[in-house]
Amino acid sequence: MSNNIRPETMERITTPELAKAFIDEKLVELREQIGDKKVLLALSGGVDSSVVAALLIKAVGKQLVCVHVNHGLLRKGEPEQVVKVFRDEMDANLVYVDAVDRFLDKLVGIAEPEKKRKIIGAEFIRVFEEEARKQEGIEFLAQGTIYPDILESGPVKAHHNVGGLPEDLQFELVEPLKFLFKDEVRVVGDALGLPANMVYRQPFPGPGLGVRCIGAITRDRLEAVRESDAILREEFAKNGLEGKVWQYFTIVPDFKSTGVKNDKRSYEWPVIIRAVNTRDAMIATVEDIPFSLLQHITSRITSEVAGVNRVLYDLTPKPTGTIEWE
Ligand code: XMP
Repeated sequence: MSNNIRPETMERITTPELAKAFIDEKLVELREQIGDKKVLLALSGGVDSSVVAALLIKAVGKQLVCVHVNHGLLRKGEPEQVVKVFRDEMDANLVYVDAVDRFLDKLVGIAEPEKKRKIIGAEFIRVFEEEARKQEGIEFLAQGTIYPDILESGPVKAHHNVGGLPEDLQFELVEPLKFLFKDEVRVVGDALGLPANMVYRQPFPGPGLGVRCIGAITRDRLEAVRESDAILREEFAKNGLEGKVWQYFTIVPDFKSTGVKNDKRSYEWPVIIRAVNTRDAMIATVEDIPFSLLQHITSRITSEVAGVNRVLYDLTPKPTGTIEWE
């Protein structure tokens, strides 16, 4: 366990200079550890895995094999950004796996939240395992473990862990961020030149939009979650709320209500907006969003998102509500 305790002498990384020193030190360590061998990394596009990827690309270039699994539950534009940043701009060895149908087919008719999570987690390991088997000569598995994951503090589960691979696929772990706190990871990500919207991204659950498309996931309702979430994010960014609100997203429940659209009766889904502030995700307060902005977002969502005729704002703090709805 002793090598899982952050050294007391380790300075907190708060400036670009300290980040640069950390990066230089890690580059030496990583090159020493990895030598001329190959490293595998599940790259979700979240902050932690993106920073690990950028660091390893600098350290060992094409010896790093990044696997990006698109499970169909990512936010609008995310898979495209992973390809653009890592393959096109950083020239990484990136395997893009379109597993959308696989995941969504497995989830048909599954309404129970924990069952959905299990299916998504298990399928993720399966897809990753298949890709790992296609690669030759992998000796290391890189992971975006950060210090809070080791401390297991609080209910922040926002971390992709690829533990659970079968016995014959056990690689030596490479965890260069394991002593860093989230804010330090972001400073390092900035120093590595990753785009700000990747580095300062809000927490996003592993099962992604899957737990925001309430009950059994259908493709059309999932699109309503994705499109409404994109509008919310765009409006929050435009109105300076991006860095002020800890987590904000939309939810689409599995019921409909009546409405009127283009002089005709409609029977469609509502979209629920959730925007909360918290320090550690244990307790959360609801953000006081300007009413005029909520009205503007409502009008955009009801006119631009197919199948939606109402927008609601969730006023519930945690407790009694959790941050997510499932
Ligand atoms: P709750 O909903 O429990 O969420 O108040 C607290 C924080 O954890 C995130 N969350 C998850 N993260 N897998 C994850 O990686 C999950 O299954 C999961 N469920 C919730 C949630 O987004 C919030 O930041």
